[in-house]
Amino acid sequence: MRIIQAASREEAVETVASLILERILRHPSSVIGLATGRTMEPVYARLCEDAVAAKASLAQTFFFMLDEYVGLPDGHAASFKHYIRTHFLRPLSIPESQIAFPPAPEQDGPERYEALLKESHGVDLQLLGIGQNGHIGFNEPGSDKNSRTRIVRLTPETISANRSQFTDIIPEKALSMGIGTIREAKGLLLLATGKSKADAIKYLLNHHDDPACPASFLKDHPHFTLVLDPDAASRINLKI
Ligand code: F6R
Repeated sequence: MRIIQAASREEAVETVASLILERILRHPSSVIGLATGRTMEPVYARLCEDAVAAKASLAQTFFFMLDEYVGLPDGHAASFKHYIRTHFLRPLSIPESQIAFPPAPEQDGPERYEALLKESHGVDLQLLGIGQNGHIGFNEPGSDKNSRTRIVRLTPETISANRSQFTDIIPEKALSMGIGTIREAKGLLLLATGKSKADAIKYLLNHHDDPACPASFLKDHPHFTLVLDPDAASRINLKI
């Protein structure tokens, strides 16, 4: 695991955006896995800005969403589809033919998504955030290291952490790539920012393969980069 401890939140965001853009510039036909959440909003803003400045063509790049709530109408304002359209696809005029969204559960969503991943020869670089309870995607504590894409029930902590985004329906389930699925990506790039992630990062660094912290299942991945801002790193003691 490579740990990058940034000097500020801006620097952490900039680091993640430039690692993604560098990958795309070097290998335009890369497959990139996208995460959502508050942490990623400035990353997409920066990535869009940098891609425009670099006149980068993303026309050959393909994207996979990491997860999606179950039970929201298509394009609901709190859906990850809406999020990624708003923060990434529209600003860069990326057509939706270049992204895979998890199919609905009633359309054999998990199996079809796994098949699609296989057809695309897997993800080259998977962007990840982390929950305060150490979740990855919607793989909550107790998830299996080898879990595949599936429908998961959200924990009360995750439901309450996300509650402010919902005014109508509050989803209790989501479709998420499994930990085993995520681990198959050739590279993993996890960003944690803010004090609310400090305990999860401390726990992650002190535990290996611990079902109480799903992110700990990623630590033996050969190309796992963890980027931290000073707040997220405030409970750990790393010599740099
Ligand atoms: C989002 C996702 C989640 C978030 C995590 C952190 O696609 O998979 O695991 O990365 O819940 O969310 P924020 O960044 O809002 O704290």
